[in-house]
Amino acid sequence: MIMRADIKRFPPPGSTCAVSAAADPCTIVIFGASGDLASRKIIPSLYRLYCRGLLPERFTVVGAARTPHTHSSFRALTHEAVMKFDPGDFDTSLCESFASRLFYRQVAYDNIEAMTALGAYLDGVELEAGYQGNRIFYCAVPPALYPVIIGGIGEAGLDAEARGWTRIVIEKPFGESLESARALTASLYRYFREDQVFRMDHYLGKETVQNILMFRFANAIYEPIWNRQYVDHVQITASETIGIEHRAGYYDRAGVVRDMFQNHMLQLLALVAMEPPARFEAEPVRDEKGKVMNSIRPFDPAAMGANWAFGQYARGIVGGESSRGYREERNVLPDSITPTFAAGVFHVDNWRWRGVPFLLRSGKRLSAQVTEIAVHFKAAPHFMFDRVMHDPIGPNVLVFRIQPDEGITQGFYAKMPGSRLCLQRVNMEFSYREMVGMTALDAYQRVLLDCMSGDRMLFVRQDSVELTWALLDPVIDIVGGMGLPELYASGSDGPESAKRLADKYGRSWRPLGNDHIMKGVQ
Ligand code: BG6
Repeated sequence: MIMRADIKRFPPPGSTCAVSAAADPCTIVIFGASGDLASRKIIPSLYRLYCRGLLPERFTVVGAARTPHTHSSFRALTHEAVMKFDPGDFDTSLCESFASRLFYRQVAYDNIEAMTALGAYLDGVELEAGYQGNRIFYCAVPPALYPVIIGGIGEAGLDAEARGWTRIVIEKPFGESLESARALTASLYRYFREDQVFRMDHYLGKETVQNILMFRFANAIYEPIWNRQYVDHVQITASETIGIEHRAGYYDRAGVVRDMFQNHMLQLLALVAMEPPARFEAEPVRDEKGKVMNSIRPFDPAAMGANWAFGQYARGIVGGESSRGYREERNVLPDSITPTFAAGVFHVDNWRWRGVPFLLRSGKRLSAQVTEIAVHFKAAPHFMFDRVMHDPIGPNVLVFRIQPDEGITQGFYAKMPGSRLCLQRVNMEFSYREMVGMTALDAYQRVLLDCMSGDRMLFVRQDSVELTWALLDPVIDIVGGMGLPELYASGSDGPESAKRLADKYGRSWRPLGNDHIMKGVQ
């Protein structure tokens, strides 16, 4: 049995923390437990939470999938998963005591008898563990199976809340268009209320993403200049060096707009652009995000080129190694026209942001792995140094580094020491790594925890889902009819058309990577 004193306490004493609701005892049922997502993310995250003493005293994890497993082979699988995907600080005895809470049931999701038997099984393990009810159904399966699992849960009566709460976690993508998202919602609403539905966007669980709201609304100094009067434009970048890895089946259908823009990118935009909610609670925060999405100017299908640029990666060199083109990836058709890069210019038509372009770009197999939000402020209204200095100075830029090297950089100008008048760009830096030397909760750990305590703030509400699909459906339609997007070499900064797009707006993209920040260049 685990000694609670063995568990490392988190966060450390001395932090100013929200009062967190103690999580109820609960059962986490992972559908698709023998799959990739469960072993890469969900199981290692639950294990980490356990090691940090953040899981409730009484909890049970029941893996449910079509693959045959015994409890012990499932436990061995999870042991392997933790060793492989989160090996740091591995503790055999903690892992064993965690594994003793894990059970497995083989089920066919569309077999009502099997699902009913799963319900009876859950009653049994919970009784043994000393609690009843409180269940999270986590759908870690391909999206096509969501309706099947939802139907199975509902028809077998597992959604009943007779002895405690019931929640369901749905991973992105939530639909692949407005219509399919609505159909998925309709199937959920047959058995669940909106407050039981936890739509996962793992970006919202990232520390640095959560920090956007803290930074904006806990520090009074930025809010007065957070508007069209002082902000010139905002750039949001999610650039990856990896390709599509083993996910051709999903990705080739989805493409970058569905994969990154409909969810992560627009969620980031909403956090930067939203008004302060009256209270830091799930519904007021999600209301404000919804208002931003409602204010984004719809794209004119007849003038898509004015707002968008697309690309697909070709062969090239990434990180010193030669890498194949998208059409040469396993299970991608040689004539695929799926875009792996997109850049879009968004306009938020409200009082605060009218006239401030939001430049968003995301792509795979680019030169650097970087996710950041850069708020470019307007230049000083009068440059009084122009008689003594020849070069113009650039604007101040505030950068939220979402990953890697999570932190915030505020660039400004300072006089270089010496008799000559020289201005130098310098940065004020905040780095999470150096903060208190603690490892933050990763995104999955955070959202799992929130789901257990019933906090929906970091989950996406139905209105956001519909608004984002409504905005992007026309873009996806147009890009589907455009043929092969411009090719860009793997390891480059993306297609030339993205550069031209920024030029059209009189702006230029920030270089990818953090080297320029280190060198004091913003
Ligand atoms: C996922 C996308 O949602 O996010 C992937 O499906 C992408 O294509 C991933 O690689 C990026 O997430 P992260 O946390 O690695 O930035």
